[in-house]
Amino acid sequence: MTQTPVRTAIFPVAGLGTRFLPATKATPKELLPVLDTPLIQYAIDEAREAGIERMVFVSHPSKSAIERHVMDDVHLRNTLKERGKVELASDLKDAALRAPEDDVVFTMQHEPLGLGHAVLCAKDHVLPGAVAVILPDDLILGRGCIGELIEAYQSMDCGHLVATMPVAAEETDKYGILSVTDRTGNVLRANGMVEKPAAADAPSRDAVVGRYVLDASIFETLTTQAPGAGNEIQLTDAINTGAESVGLGGLRFSGQRFDCGNKAGMLQAVLHIAAQDPEYKDVLDAFVLQGQAPIAA
Ligand code: UTP
Repeated sequence: MTQTPVRTAIFPVAGLGTRFLPATKATPKELLPVLDTPLIQYAIDEAREAGIERMVFVSHPSKSAIERHVMDDVHLRNTLKERGKVELASDLKDAALRAPEDDVVFTMQHEPLGLGHAVLCAKDHVLPGAVAVILPDDLILGRGCIGELIEAYQSMDCGHLVATMPVAAEETDKYGILSVTDRTGNVLRANGMVEKPAAADAPSRDAVVGRYVLDASIFETLTTQAPGAGNEIQLTDAINTGAESVGLGGLRFSGQRFDCGNKAGMLQAVLHIAAQDPEYKDVLDAFVLQGQAPIAA
């Protein structure tokens, strides 16, 4: 089977972010910073590194700050330059997307009817072929996960490919778990996935995280799909339909994943990033050694 190139990445960013309220009352979850870099920026950088041509953001009208962050702000850059902050202005330019050089689409999901529905909202805006889906609240550091997935996809004969990681038995009820039929190294074949099973019912310990390469038939499937759990249009249900018709694979990715959709995972990510930077060594050392933050003089 020859795979067509994966040219589009879909970023579903229209959710309510209830686990982070009140922080997410006015600030979109996807803009919450890991120290100083918003989650969405990591996701964009990952897609860029993977050679994605078009980025489709499925957002909500109340989350317009996402577009303001994602797109270039010439006025802000000029102000920074006037004030001598040339390097900062240059960093912002590098991070931002801008038309017409970058192929960027913002489309709206007016009601958060589920992840599957959010992906469906991108249907009319994607380039031909399979699409990548990136959930920004799953932060994956190290090797770019979506690039790794796309590379593996080219040599696999499955229509849908999902990123997976092994989890402990007591954690299966927090994830979609693959029903694995075959394993070769980091590559899995599956005949479906089960949403949040108890350990006793879990078909494997291979949990699905927020990176997908999906055959274009996913849109047709989602169009006719009835609401599932929580009365939402579930992406998992559509992937399960595709497992029969186009095939389903999993890839144990090599990066390190942080679940920044919840507070504990976000805290881990912030500490991880801070620990890489000597600037924060004293703060972290003092916290660890004294069991408390240093008291300002
Ligand atoms: P989550 O379920 O983790 O996000 O969806 P949420 O619903 O915003 O957060 P909680 O559970 O209430 O705290 C993962 C991604 O899918 C998007 C979210 O914005 C997030 O980036 N999403 C989810 C949508 O775009 N639309 C939806 O209907 C649901």
